Formats: sequence, C-alpha cells, structure tokens
Amino acid sequence: MTKAVLGIIGGSGIYDLPGLENVRDEAVQSPWGEPSAPLRHGTIAGLPIVFLPRHDKGHRLSPSDINYRANIDVLKRAGVTDLISLSACGSFKEELPPGTFVLVDQFVDRTHKRESSFFGRGCVAHVSMAHPVSPRLRIHLAAAAEAEGLAFARGGTYICIEGPQFSSLAESLTYKSHGYSVIGMTNMPEAKLAREAEICYASVAMVTDFDCWHPDHDAVTVQDIIRVLNSNAEKAKTLVARLATDFPREHEPCPIGSDRALDTALITAPEARDP
Ligand code: ADE
Repeated sequence: MTKAVLGIIGGSGIYDLPGLENVRDEAVQSPWGEPSAPLRHGTIAGLPIVFLPRHDKGHRLSPSDINYRANIDVLKRAGVTDLISLSACGSFKEELPPGTFVLVDQFVDRTHKRESSFFGRGCVAHVSMAHPVSPRLRIHLAAAAEAEGLAFARGGTYICIEGPQFSSLAESLTYKSHGYSVIGMTNMPEAKLAREAEICYASVAMVTDFDCWHPDHDAVTVQDIIRVLNSNAEKAKTLVARLATDFPREHEPCPIGSDRALDTALITAPEARDP
C-alpha cells in the first residue's frame, strides 16, 4: 500500500495554507529548471500535505512564465500521489456566478508558449488525456464542498488561454457558444504534466468574474477579480482543510489509471531510449 500524499497548488490569491501544521519549507532542485517556489511541507489532521504557490509569493510569475514541468517534477519527487489545483477563473454561464467553485472535468488547451511534456527527443510517450481529471478526487472534493456548504458545480469544461491579456468579446462569445464553463490561464499544461508524472489531478476553478460576454457586467478587470479572489481564497482554505481531514490515508488506485498512465504510453523501444 502506498501512503497518500496530497499536493496543493495555490493560484492567484493563495500563496500560503494557514491551517498547515508541522510546517517545513524545502527548496527542491529539478532538472527541468526552477519551480515557482520552495515546497511547503506540513500536515492537516495527520495527512501529509505539500503546498506550492504557482505564482510565488507576491504574484511574481505570470501564467506563461511558470515552469510547469519543474513544478510537477518537484511535487512528484516529494511523493505527491494526489494533486489539487486551485485557481481563479472567469465564467461563461449565468448559473456559475462569482464565488462558485467548479470541479472541472474537461479541459481545452489554447496555450502555445509553454513546455507541455516531459517526453520527446530520445523517449516518446503519448498518454491518454481523454479523461484528464481523477474521478475519485472529484468525488472527494464534492463531498468536502458539500460538507462546508460551498456553492459548487460537479463538472465543467475549463478553457486555458495563454494570456496574460483577457479575451476579446469575439473570443469570449465563441468559447461560450462552444458550451465551455470557465476560462483561466494556468491549468494547462499542468494537468497534462501531472498525467505524464502519474499523479492523480483535479482542479477547483473558483469563479471571480463573467469574463466579458455578459451584457450586464462590465469587461473584466483585475480590480473586479481581486474583490472576489480574497473571499474565494478563504473558502478554498476551508475546502482543503475538510478534504484533508476526510481524505483516505492510503492512496486509492485511480479507476481510470491516472497513476499508471505510462504503462500504456511509451512508444520508444527500451534499447533506443536515451540513457
Ligand atoms: N482568471 C480569472 N478570470 C479570468 C478570465 N476572465 N479570463 C482568463 N483568466 C481568468
């Protein structure tokens, strides 16, 4: 049996996890470059937690500047088995107003400036991304959100744009017409890399705004986002505390095989792989 280690990636407004006990910071080196920040190790109700603020303290890193490969690599080295991404997002649906937590189940990747694989040149692998989110983690998140009385949705499609600019009205209306639920700038390639690293991944997309499609709301500004961000951040901390308290102490095998993704993905013959 493998012990469960819960990783938490904090997004905008979440640069720390105040409920963490037995805190220890560790700067971990990665062959993939600099991670966003030192890892913060700790426990909640005895469960080992590893926290990493995606943008670093003071929001130093823009979405395109985050080294997603280094982040996932150091979390893997720290033994993380299950990873929860917390991030701010815009909403394309009236029924998902600011303050709602969307437990994302699908992604559309519109990023284009980011290193998005650990593989290539010497060792090629094609992991499945048909179901990018671990259903088991989503069930645990839904139970925790329900127990805390949070407004949340059990699924939704997240489109990840490169940014750093927000979308034009034409883009926003297009994404809405495609039926997407939310928009953000950070969950890709993070989710792809977690799959390649065989870490179970789930994303809590916390709505801060209606992007710019909504006729009754002005085009999104950072000031609008920050107003909602802080209250979302407080709720996220209660969500994580509840999740950790109720989380299984042994890693549960992923029903869709996220934690064994490479078993069926490597295509380069062993003798042809780089040492
Ligand atoms: N993050 C928060 N709100 C956003 C939006 N409207 N578009 C992209 N990323 C966001």
